[in-house]
Amino acid sequence: MKVLVIGRGGREHAIAWKLAQSDKVEEIFAAPGNDGMANVARRVPIHENEWDRLIEFAKKEAIALTVVGPEQPLVDGIADRFRTEGLAIFGPSKAAAMIEGSKSFAKRLMKEYGIPTADYASFRDYEAAVDYVKRRGAPIVIKADGLAAGKGVTVAMSVDEALGALSDMMENQVFGHAGAAVVIEDYLEGEEFSLMAFVSGERVYPMVIAQDHKRVYEGDQGPNTGGMGAYSPVPQLPGDAVAVSVERILKPVARALVKEGRPYSGVLYAGLMWTNEGPKVIEFNCRFGDPETQVVLPRLESDLFDALLAIARGEEPELTWSDRAVCGIVLASEGYPGDYQKGAVIRGLDALEKETLVFHAGTKRADGRWIADGGRVLLVACRDAELCKATAKARSEAEKLKQPGLFFRRDIGWRALKTNGGFSATVRNG
Ligand code: AMP
Ligand code: GLY
Repeated sequence: MKVLVIGRGGREHAIAWKLAQSDKVEEIFAAPGNDGMANVARRVPIHENEWDRLIEFAKKEAIALTVVGPEQPLVDGIADRFRTEGLAIFGPSKAAAMIEGSKSFAKRLMKEYGIPTADYASFRDYEAAVDYVKRRGAPIVIKADGLAAGKGVTVAMSVDEALGALSDMMENQVFGHAGAAVVIEDYLEGEEFSLMAFVSGERVYPMVIAQDHKRVYEGDQGPNTGGMGAYSPVPQLPGDAVAVSVERILKPVARALVKEGRPYSGVLYAGLMWTNEGPKVIEFNCRFGDPETQVVLPRLESDLFDALLAIARGEEPELTWSDRAVCGIVLASEGYPGDYQKGAVIRGLDALEKETLVFHAGTKRADGRWIADGGRVLLVACRDAELCKATAKARSEAEKLKQPGLFFRRDIGWRALKTNGGFSATVRNG
């Protein structure tokens, strides 16, 4: 069978890498992909938003399944278009993807169906939003309603900071149309984690969980990024964290979407906070997480192609997971997530251990060398029976790649390792 992966980042590289292990997959194409994916996929020079060309390609090559990585095409309705053309595609419809595309829709759904999340209010009127923040006080969280590439959220520790964020979004429109409406929500305290599940209508099949480090600096400080590293499992959470989250959150939301006439098919990503009262939703995404996918898929022992095809057809997937821990560290260009310089030469890839996984995000091949070509450049992932050893290995592997112009966080996994639980990866919470 031939598979087409849409997207160009580390997540798509990990998806293609895992698909390539399937006996049934004969060839993988990536549109547009990146140069680093060449070990598992053939690049096709078609952009994620050129749907007519993607459809023509899928028909011409008799693609058995198209897998969509990023949210934008899903939120815009690419899955509906492919299905109308009779093409199999893995990913939710436009109506179901709204769970990521509009935060106020997601919040309304959660409130109406009793799914635990922070209390909130949404606003289109700037003055009313300012009043609400002043009444409510800090800490408080301000979110642009629409898609803002992970950057539309301010966790404000003071009222002044919250008012600054409102003014940026609503008055100065720094996120354009995405900030025309804002959601203001209560601050949640606890341990954050990512639970992705395959969802088909009301049926939910959870993956193992991961924790993403979103802040750019060590100690989880500084501005939010697309993710500086991740690890799985998350042993500082209770052993029943996945089971409880599936019962209280994922199953109810899947049922709610069916009831609203927006049945979900694909991966549903829940960004959760484990609070004193158990799990609460921070956000839903309509796709695989990045960089969580790069540490979760290496733990999948069963066939990813079979699982994706089963979900796309509304059938039951078979999923088996390894107990081994995975730690992934992102190598980024100096300056990221602000203005950064591209062009650093990446050396040391040949010196990595054979079992180390490298998922490329922003690299290009030029004159026989690997060149940094984006903010997040690549992710190195290491596996071990014990999480503390996986993190140590990943750190020493990332060290081999560190060059002027590139940086990485040395503390990925610290929240797990600060408790004794971190030294055992055999905790069965995921
Ligand atoms: P989001 O883009 O919604 O995932 O938000 C980005 C980050 O902001 C999350 O990963 C959390 O760390 C933080 N965050 C978002 N909402 C809240 C909240 N209600 N309480 C505390 N932290 C939050
Ligand atoms: N890692 C967060 C996300 O994929 O949205």
